[in-house]
Amino acid sequence: RIVYVNGDYLPEADAKISVFDRGFLFADAVYEVTSVLDGRLVDFPGHLARLHRSLGALELTTPLDDAGLEEMHRELLKRNRLTEGAVYMQVTRGAADRDFAYPASSEPGLVAFTQAKALIESPTAAKGIRVISVQDIRWARRDIKTTQLLGPSMCKMIAKKAGADDAWFVEEGFVTEGTSNNAWIITADGAIVTRNLSAAILHGITRAAVMTYAEAAGMRVEERPFTIAEAQGAAEAFITSASAFVTPVVEIDGVPLGDGAPGPVTKRLRELYIAESR
Ligand code: PDD
Repeated sequence: RIVYVNGDYLPEADAKISVFDRGFLFADAVYEVTSVLDGRLVDFPGHLARLHRSLGALELTTPLDDAGLEEMHRELLKRNRLTEGAVYMQVTRGAADRDFAYPASSEPGLVAFTQAKALIESPTAAKGIRVISVQDIRWARRDIKTTQLLGPSMCKMIAKKAGADDAWFVEEGFVTEGTSNNAWIITADGAIVTRNLSAAILHGITRAAVMTYAEAAGMRVEERPFTIAEAQGAAEAFITSASAFVTPVVEIDGVPLGDGAPGPVTKRLRELYIAESR
């Protein structure tokens, strides 16, 4: 793989960053994952907008402007001949002597790489995933897309060890989101429900797109918190993210939803999302 590091395109073995990089020492870094379909970036303007929001919250800057970031993404796709998968991009505050206060001046760092993945012919999308609920142990600013991902990583492992595919976080009795995706349910009367935006969740780019497409198709979308009990009694459930698109959830804490197979509305939303994204 050819990766991007601070202005250079390098074989991954030659790509290096400092031991003192604050991204490494403090997770003082933000990131974006943009999916790639048919060799094209999906909703890149949305990812740029969220990147700027994350950067702003942490008083971080990027070494490249928006046009430069897009050009860099395209160059990575070309050099890696990637047609389906994702581009991961990370902005860090750069290297400085270890101190909790942000350094007065440091060179922000930018790295990016591609990941090939079958997004359309996804086996999990065909059969759906099983989730378990876990306490939301993450920090309180989940709306900032930082690389501080050990909480989600631990909880994903708890889910895997329990024989499930992923975990849904629960806080004060309500589902916040999945470890790396937004959580949705479809009620018996056909309303599509996902938690309202706040600092409790990441403002998913796929979430926003699915909401728009669902409403345009005449479906009713409700933005509000829901409980695990409500989700277990729902007609269908699903998750959204740049890497999962729309992926059905067929079981929550051991309780199958409906007949335990991916539901028709979820399938329709997935097809809608894919059709609109290409
Ligand atoms: N994760 N919520 C969390 C906690 C996430 O990490 C993600 C994305 C989402 C969905 O956001 P979007 O639709 O913009 O991808 C929601 C990415 C894919 C990741 O960390 O790999």
